[in-house]
Amino acid sequence: MKTLVTGGAGFIGSHLVDALTARGDEAVVLDNLSSGKLENIASAMANGTRLIEGDIRDAGFVTRTLEAERPGTIFHLAAQSEVRKSIEEPTFDATVNVVGSVNLIEASQKIGLDRFVFASTGGAVYGEGELIDLPAVETTVPEPMCQYGLSKFVVEKYLELYRRLYMFNSVALRLANVYGPRQNPKGEAGAVAIFAGQLKNGEKPTVFGDGTQTRDFVYVGDVIDAMLTASRTDVEGTINVGSGVEVPLLELISTIGGLGENGNTFKPSFDTARKGDVQRNSIDPSRAAADLGWSPATSLEDGLKKTVDSI
Ligand SMILES: NC(=O)c1ccc[n+]([C@@H]2O[C@H](COP(=O)([O-])OP(=O)(O)OC[C@H]3O[C@@H](n4cnc5c(N)ncnc54)[C@H](O)[C@@H]3O)[C@@H](O)[C@H]2O)c1
Repeated sequence: MKTLVTGGAGFIGSHLVDALTARGDEAVVLDNLSSGKLENIASAMANGTRLIEGDIRDAGFVTRTLEAERPGTIFHLAAQSEVRKSIEEPTFDATVNVVGSVNLIEASQKIGLDRFVFASTGGAVYGEGELIDLPAVETTVPEPMCQYGLSKFVVEKYLELYRRLYMFNSVALRLANVYGPRQNPKGEAGAVAIFAGQLKNGEKPTVFGDGTQTRDFVYVGDVIDAMLTASRTDVEGTINVGSGVEVPLLELISTIGGLGENGNTFKPSFDTARKGDVQRNSIDPSRAAADLGWSPATSLEDGLKKTVDSI
């Protein structure tokens, strides 16, 4: 079975590629290495994974690649995944995340792809959690607070349209704040990578706001299980992939601090809250449990320990 992973050299994508290679799939990575790294896929490449270097914004390149490769399944993870950058450079965000995704969906539909799995966001699509019932469910009306959240939502809507027009077989997984080894500190949920690095270097963490803001954290290994399971089903629409638990940032810092030798001095300093950062977020994984038989298996403490140990 040939599987194409866009963004396969990135944090989540490279773990997915490792899992696909381990189960004997022929995995092809499409990535422009803008935030992804060759070293993330070095061992997968040694085991036969191929990298096709190129940009999803280039419709001709995307079409030629899909026509030549003809994968059965595509996992679409390539994205501009920085909330900050989406606010500062909204046109860039929309070009990569919306236009790039449309290029891929259109070319996928034309080659008669079997299954398209899209990495959407449960952290940014719902918007301010203080204004809705938490944990958010898939039927909660999205009110994103940043361009990144909106661009992901727009792609979900394209997938719905392609289902209506062409019976295009897809699912959008709304991932919570994903953390784990190889994490990109600038990406969504980059706080865990930043704090873990600071702990290792004996530095102090900085919190934007008062630290009472909450996030829903999910370990990368659990996310890969959800993606692989979703690819093997015909489940459609949007599915939350998170824990349903709100963790205040101060609690996260204290848990990370407890994993290092300098833990008792690992106390944050505070800076002003940033535009686009919501105060509260958590997403309900009940649909994932019912339709995919998936629920997060890794406790926050265990996952954070694996993350800190990997640095
Ligand atoms: N990390 C999280 O907490 C989180 C949460 C929700 C959703 N997501 C989504 O999951 C996906 C993977 O996120 P990640 O954290 O691994 O980010 P990442 O930045 O590590 O990975 C993104 C990958 O896409 C590639 N890429 C970027 N622009 C490209 C382009 N124009 N053409 C081809 N390749 C391009 C990058 O080089 C990189 O390898 C993204 O779509 C992101 O929006 C991540």
